[in-house]
Formats: sequence, structure tokens, C-alpha cells
Amino acid sequence: MNQHPFMAIAHRGASSYAPENTFAAYDLALEMGAQHIELDVHLTTDGQVVVIHDDLLDRTTDGTGPVAACSLAEIKALDAGAWFEQAFAGERIPTLGEVLGRYGRRAHLHIEIKGQTPGLVPATLGLVRQQDLTEHVTITSFHLSALEETRRLADELPTGWLVSAIDEAIVADTLRLGLTQLCPRADIVTAEMVNDLHGRGLVVRAWGVGDERLMRAALEAGVDGMTVNFPDVLLASLADRL
Ligand code: G3P
Ligand code: CA
Repeated sequence: MNQHPFMAIAHRGASSYAPENTFAAYDLALEMGAQHIELDVHLTTDGQVVVIHDDLLDRTTDGTGPVAACSLAEIKALDAGAWFEQAFAGERIPTLGEVLGRYGRRAHLHIEIKGQTPGLVPATLGLVRQQDLTEHVTITSFHLSALEETRRLADELPTGWLVSAIDEAIVADTLRLGLTQLCPRADIVTAEMVNDLHGRGLVVRAWGVGDERLMRAALEAGVDGMTVNFPDVLLASLADRL
């Protein structure tokens, strides 16, 4: 299944060096040469799709409480950069529409359906179609129901299931739904697993690559891609292997 270029995916942007899921992190990832970026989405009370990882605002903004309890105007008033480093003060939580518009033709976007608010999946897919970016997007999620909904509403899009374990039932669900990728946590990846999944026609892309040791182990195992917070290190390692 290694017929496509390796997917070196900047996880929440170059998030080791800039506040995750902000323009600063995505701009830096592209400057480093990344051609793939990952982002997490939630829905606001007024039906807008916003790019932030946690259910709560507390860790990555100067706000508090659930993202899903805020309007877009409330979200946009928050600072999403100062928590990381004062130099990034003023960064805002982007909308998915803004991220698609700014990066959708310069990178492949791996959109993770993180929130569980009804309406998030159709709103996300609607924005992708509105900007004519179906060839530049993969939809991922830990929630199988979100992937089922994606398959039902937009079966032209690649889909990846984020999992922490792989067994026959998980592979069977993946194939039954016509998902294109299985995305195992890096610390469970083995070459045997990758070979087996490739043999079943699946793309294998790792997540949870917390350090260079895991990154190298996943590369050795033959994965088709991975998310990392340090795309510069992964890209340098890939260049060394050529
Ligand atoms: O690559 C997928 C990865 O983003 C899943 O974990 O917690 O960072 O969303 P998380
Ligand atoms: Ca994510």
C-alpha cells in the first residue's frame, strides 16, 4: 500500500514550537516543509465549526468552560497563544472555514472530528465541499459514529479511524464501513500489523508519536504516515532515508 507519498503530518500544526491549532502553528509547519497538517474540530452554539483540541477552553485559551457552550463571537474574543508563550499572545481560535481557506490548497488537511455535538459532521463536510476541497481532506476520528456519518454524507472522502488497539472486530468494522485508513497509536505498531493491514487494502497511519524513538520505530514498521508535533525532525529523518 506504499504507492503514495509518505504522510508527514504536522499534529495540530508544528505544535512543539507554536500554540497548537493556530495559524502560527500551521504557518510554521508549512515553513518547515510539511505538506500535511492535522486539526481538531468542535461546534459552537451557533453552528460554527472551530479548530481546537480540548472539549474545554481552559488549557489552551484564556477562557473557561466547554467550547460547545460558546458562540463564535465568544470564542473569537479569546486568546489562544499566550498560554504557550507570551510572544504568541493575540493568536485566535480559527474557524474551520478560515483554515480551509488559508491552507486547503497548500497542504492536505487531516480533520479530526473531536467534538460530539450533533451537527458537527455535516457542518464540517459542508465547509469542505463549499470550498471544493474534497481532494485535499481526510476525515479522522476516535468516534466510529462520526466516521459512519461521514461515509453516509460524503463517501468520496478518505476516512481514518484513530484506535488504541487493533483486533479482528476493529478491522472488520473498518472494512465494513469502507474506511480507508486505520490509525493505531504508535506504541502498538509492529511491522507484522502494518503488513497485515496493507494486505487488507488499508492505509496505516500512526498517532501518539511523542518522541523520536517512537517516530523511528513507526518508520521502521512501515507505516504510511504519522502525526508529529515536530514535523522538522520527521522530515529530516525522511530525507536521510532517501
Ligand atoms: O493523529 C491523531 C491525533 O491527533 C489523535 O490524538 O489527542 O492529539 O487528538 P489527539
Ligand atoms: Ca487530533
